[in-house]
Amino acid sequence: MRPSDLDALNRQFAIRDRLFFREGPGGLTIAEIRHSGGEATIALHGGHVLSFRPRHHPPVLWLSREARFETGSAIRGGIPVCWPWFADHPSNNAMPAHGFVRATVWTPSASETLADGSTHLKLATADSEETMKRWPHRFRLEIAVSVSDVLRVALTATNTDRSAFSCTGALHSYFNISTPANVRIKGVAGVAYLDKVDRMRRKVQDGDVFIDKETDRIYLDTNAACTIEDRGMQRRIGIAKTGSRTTVIWNPWVEKSALMKDFGDDEYQTMVCVETANAGPDRVRLAPGESHTLEAVICSEASDPERPPIVFLPATGPGDKSA
Ligand code: BG6
Repeated sequence: MRPSDLDALNRQFAIRDRLFFREGPGGLTIAEIRHSGGEATIALHGGHVLSFRPRHHPPVLWLSREARFETGSAIRGGIPVCWPWFADHPSNNAMPAHGFVRATVWTPSASETLADGSTHLKLATADSEETMKRWPHRFRLEIAVSVSDVLRVALTATNTDRSAFSCTGALHSYFNISTPANVRIKGVAGVAYLDKVDRMRRKVQDGDVFIDKETDRIYLDTNAACTIEDRGMQRRIGIAKTGSRTTVIWNPWVEKSALMKDFGDDEYQTMVCVETANAGPDRVRLAPGESHTLEAVICSEASDPERPPIVFLPATGPGDKSA
């Protein structure tokens, strides 16, 4: 982006001492948000939250040291937006995995300080000639990011077409961990899941999730919050959600890490994805004019056996529209 375009963005959307735009890695335009409770960066490329760090805490989101910051590619880490389909395209292998909006440039549409004091930025994208070739529907997508000591990310999809469409998607969130052996993920005990590393067999989660091998699971029919308990970092990360009946937990482990060009061979040891999703049978059907919001609310706190688990504030999304 040219310096004059950056100036124009800052004139329209910057909030003094709280939000400004700058050039980031690979020349991508980044919004930097500073709040007394925490800091975040968001790339216009993909409407992608790259980092979130509550004050006095280590970074919550993980970003690969091999991430590519270039037009047309997805960024490995942070919170990629997967839409209008999650994972592989249902019928066409030539289409990119996880849809196309994570590799296109979004446009800021609003910024403000909300009544609760959090700093708020909205980015939007919509159908174009290019997207119509890949997915023949007219839409508007907006991502609203609010930053304080908590990160709220709400993705609203609106059908601006004349006929109904169905979509899936995810806030594909990557989290920083000390090492898998120190981590347990709570929130899906007793929940049925499809095991992508075992021919999509349907299984039921027995207790907490431990990461000790390649893990790629689509947890079904759950709107429960999850916590990532990390003994090594002595903290827990909380992920609450609305508008989602699917949670995906992913760690590529050794072989798959080595296959991915934008992922360090040993980096599976420092990350886990807990994704707020609409996937598998959890498809969203939108009639003309209808909207659906998928929201993740992410926080972190020092773990202390004496303290009760994280209690989530109610999320702000307008509710479930999953079909
Ligand atoms: C997860 C999927 O959501 O994303 C995995 O369940 C996939 O199967 C992973 O490997 C990463 O996908 P991508 O397209 O970003 O490499």
